Amino acid sequence: AHRPLIAPSILSADFARLGEEIQAVAGTGDTRADWVHVDVMDNHFVPNLTLGLPVVQSLLKATDLPLDCHLMIEDPDHWAIGYAEAGAYNVTVHIEAAKDPVKLAKHLRAAGAKAGLSVKPGTPLEPYLDVLKHYDTLLVMSVEPGFGGQSFIADVLDKARTARRLVDTGHLKLVVEIDGGINAETIEQAAEAGVDCFVAGSAVYGADDPAKAVAALRERAAR
Ligand code: DX5
Ligand code: ZN
Repeated sequence: AHRPLIAPSILSADFARLGEEIQAVAGTGDTRADWVHVDVMDNHFVPNLTLGLPVVQSLLKATDLPLDCHLMIEDPDHWAIGYAEAGAYNVTVHIEAAKDPVKLAKHLRAAGAKAGLSVKPGTPLEPYLDVLKHYDTLLVMSVEPGFGGQSFIADVLDKARTARRLVDTGHLKLVVEIDGGINAETIEQAAEAGVDCFVAGSAVYGADDPAKAVAALRERAAR
C-alpha cells in the first residue's frame, strides 16, 4: 500500500486565523499534511454557508500545500472552473449537482487542476462509472455534507471497497478519498476498505496539537 494521504479540513479551524491554522499542519516530516481540504458551501446545495473563491485565492498565496477544494454548491458547471484557474490542486464537485460532469472534468483538467467527483452517502457509484473515467479523485462522503463533527456512516465503506476494486482491476484510475467523521478509530476501517486519502476536520483542528494529530492519523491508517 502507498503512504496514506491526510487532508485536514479547515472547516473546523478558526476562520479568523486561517493562514496560521494551515501553517500549523505545514511543517516537515510526519506532521505535515498532504493536502488542505477546503469546504465551499453555498447554503443551497447544503444548509450551511462557508467561504468562496476570494478566500481560496488568499489561501493559495498563504501556503504551498496543495488545496483540495470540496464544492458543496449548486451549479458547479459554472463555478468550479474559477477554483481550478486560481490554482487549486484538486477541485471536487458533487455528482448530485453537476449537469454535465464529463465536460466539467475536462475543463478542470484543462485549467491545470485535478478533477474530483463526490458522492453523498446515499448516492450509488454504479450509474456513474463512465463519468468516473474522466476524474482523478473520488470523494466518498461518510456523513451528510454540510457540517463538521458528525458521526461516521460505516455503510459507505462498501462504496469505498467497490471503488478500490475498480482501481485495482484497472477499470478506473482514481485517488479514493473519504470525508466525514474520520478519527483515530474510523480511519482504520476506511484504510482497511482501501481508501487512499483521509479528510479530517474536528479530529485535526479539535486536537490540542493539530500537527501531532496529522501524524497520528497517518500512522493509524498505515497499519
Ligand atoms: C462536511 C465537510 C467535511 C467536514 C468534515 O460536509 O465536507 O470536510 O469538514 O469534518 P469532520 O472531520 O469533523 O467530520
Ligand atoms: Zn469536505
